[in-house]
Amino acid sequence: MRRDMLQPVRGMRDLMPEEASMLRFIEGNARRLAELYGYEEVITPIIEHYELLAAKIGEENKKRMYVFEDLGGRKVALRPEFTASIARLVATKMATAPKPIRLFSFGSLYRYDEPQLGRYREFWQANYELIGSGRPEADAEILLLTNDFLKGLGLRNYIIKVNHVGILRGILGGEGISEDGQNTIMQALDKKNWDEAINLAERLGASERCIRILGYLIDIRGYDKSEFISKVEEAVKGYPEAVSALTNFKEIINLLEKAGVKIQFYFEAGFARGLEYYTGMIFEAYVPELDIAICGGGRYDKLIESFGGGMVPAVGVAFGVDRMMLAMEKQSISIPGSQKEKVLVIPLSNELLAEAIRLVSVLRENGIPSEIEVMGRTLSRALSDASRRNITHAVIIGLKEKSEGKVVLRYMGDKVQEEIRIEDLPVKIRFKSSPHGG
Ligand code: HAM
Repeated sequence: MRRDMLQPVRGMRDLMPEEASMLRFIEGNARRLAELYGYEEVITPIIEHYELLAAKIGEENKKRMYVFEDLGGRKVALRPEFTASIARLVATKMATAPKPIRLFSFGSLYRYDEPQLGRYREFWQANYELIGSGRPEADAEILLLTNDFLKGLGLRNYIIKVNHVGILRGILGGEGISEDGQNTIMQALDKKNWDEAINLAERLGASERCIRILGYLIDIRGYDKSEFISKVEEAVKGYPEAVSALTNFKEIINLLEKAGVKIQFYFEAGFARGLEYYTGMIFEAYVPELDIAICGGGRYDKLIESFGGGMVPAVGVAFGVDRMMLAMEKQSISIPGSQKEKVLVIPLSNELLAEAIRLVSVLRENGIPSEIEVMGRTLSRALSDASRRNITHAVIIGLKEKSEGKVVLRYMGDKVQEEIRIEDLPVKIRFKSSPHGG
């Protein structure tokens, strides 16, 4: 085997125990949040029809899909996100389900992105979709949930960058620029190629006034809501669709403000997202230590309809779990260690192995995590290895003790031990402190 074949494929990673437990910790938080907000889990396939996944994902994302033909000749792809699969479910199996529908998903996704810190080709998301309501309180719920998730992980100083795609689309549409044309401009904005976006609008027939407005709009950004709104209000005059998008945006933000929810918003009028299906409020969250988004979402009112599911408005968010792990690491947030006991059973000779196996079984039946010494090491080596691995108790079985129905219980932290009766072992380990009171 060639040596490079023993490395994971570029962009793929092995998650080692510490990373895996971090990922599962975030998953646990995500699940608790889903339950608190009433989101039910659905598990959709990793492989879907290419056409479904590619439909509204945007040109850039489309190029980065893992696409292949299966043995049955179907053109399929690995999912680059959950939203298309959820929209498929709602348009088909859940078409008659009462609204709202709140759905949660957790799993791995695949994008042929250029690998770098926080950008991988296999990554994980916790995804929430609120389906069936086009009202501002639904958008507000998703923003509130986002804030609760980030806060709940202990993240500090994060900001939620927000905008409303209806503002830009309203202006471009008002100039007669087709949806395809608008999409190309949004793609350029997503990549922060402001000049390219304006040139494109010019080429697609936007008026001189519109070009001036776009230039002005793209520069409107900051933490001050009132300033943002009054500047955008000024810019959208004469574009009724953009005006109503701004009204909708104000309603969402004001609702949260009135409810006393403290979210650090960053308003940016030229902010767009690469995914093409968004129709309303959009957002991404950032921590100061990373310049990549740790989550992203927004409103998409036409996706489900485009899958034949009728006019079903929806709004959602996906958290990039790998990036949240990085953000937590950067902010020195560690996951609470488990306080649970962990036992190593060490037989002092081979003839005591069967007794050791019997004993670990009894401990496990009592819910106590227990390992058996399988390396045939001497007692002192087994004990030093046990300390290295944070074992809390060693149970040492010797011939003499066994004949008396006893074992030696060693409290690793206190480095003290006592002889106890075998039947007392589970209770001793679980509830009693060491003879030195540790
Ligand atoms: P997205 O912005 O493409 O949105 O992805 C959401 C999050 O996934 C990103 O903010 C990022 O944290 C993470 N992510 C994306 N690509 C990578 C990558 N290559 N490596 C590591 N992490 C990555 C969506 O996927 C939408 N479906 C969100 C949504 C749900 N909108 C409405 N509902």
